[in-house]
Amino acid sequence: MAGWIHMVTARTPTNIAVIKYWGKRDESLILPVNDSISVTLDPEHLCTTTTVAVSPGFDQDRMWLNGKEISLSGGRYQNCLREIRARAEDFEDNERGIKIAKQDWQKLRVHIASYNNFPTAAGLASSAAGFACLVFALAKLMNAKEDPSQLSAIARQGSGSACRSLYGGFVKWIMGKEENGSDSLAVQLVDENHWDDLVIIIAVVSSRQKETSSTTGMRDTVETSMLLQHRAKVEVVPKRIVKMEEAIQNHDFSSFAQLTCSDSNQFHAVCLDTCPPIFYMNDTSHRIISCIEKWNRSEESPQVAYTFDAGPNAVLIARNRKTAALLLQRMLYFFPPSADTDMSSYVLGDKSILK
Ligand code: PMV
Repeated sequence: MAGWIHMVTARTPTNIAVIKYWGKRDESLILPVNDSISVTLDPEHLCTTTTVAVSPGFDQDRMWLNGKEISLSGGRYQNCLREIRARAEDFEDNERGIKIAKQDWQKLRVHIASYNNFPTAAGLASSAAGFACLVFALAKLMNAKEDPSQLSAIARQGSGSACRSLYGGFVKWIMGKEENGSDSLAVQLVDENHWDDLVIIIAVVSSRQKETSSTTGMRDTVETSMLLQHRAKVEVVPKRIVKMEEAIQNHDFSSFAQLTCSDSNQFHAVCLDTCPPIFYMNDTSHRIISCIEKWNRSEESPQVAYTFDAGPNAVLIARNRKTAALLLQRMLYFFPPSADTDMSSYVLGDKSILK
């Protein structure tokens, strides 16, 4: 291999939508039919680590995901690589005698190694962390000077939800109006310290890969679901977005929980309203919902919010640490992880509740 290698490693957490993105108005640019809001998880637990390397000895772009080589020929990877290469700047490392001129990036090939510390494609938003991390690492490698919002518009072209992982805290993906997608990007609503009482616990109901990918599912939904048309109306998701922003700003857990649970339930109703119907949740997911609903109804105000992405795993958001400890106790009692049940484990957003 000729000469030198220049490498960058980045780590990016996944995010979980509390107001869901489901449905594209443009499939190749990945432009959504509505705004969405998510919370970025703590990087300790569910994250992707990606190392990108460039060397004059590399003769083609290559990528390994969790140690297995994957093809980069798909449009999503190609879009991200092309967009970052177009923004690459001169790079110099005098100590190691490396000098890369802006125009050289077009010819130089990269190698990418990416690892998820959680199950891939099991409805735990692995593609969100994956593409956000890839775009961030490539931008650092190629010295591209874009801000996180501009990078989010590039990550969006890898996987829609990835655009929201470029920031911590609560993040909004603005659907945008432009046909070329230039204004479809993520902005941070509040940072990770704004509402640090919240504790997130993920019940890994199944770590198997989902049967219907979000790409296929969204396509079928857009083509067949009347309920999706209803979601896009001003008084449904756009109104929820405004209310969710207020709830987050005011630390209003009751509204936050009510909006989060309703939007998750409506997203899964939209999936059922699709032809052929899509079943992401299973019996255990439904039992978890019942358990949380009963608990919330027995208290003066909601204690826990639940939300499910494109899979059966429950993301549970407790209003504070005390509730989180109780939640974990109840969950372990009613849904003990074991080989005989379909609960495999819990992932904690905050380890300190176990103390
Ligand atoms: O970005 P994708 O194609 O993985 O779609 C994600 C869709 C949901 O996770 C179900 C919702 C969301 O807003 O993240």
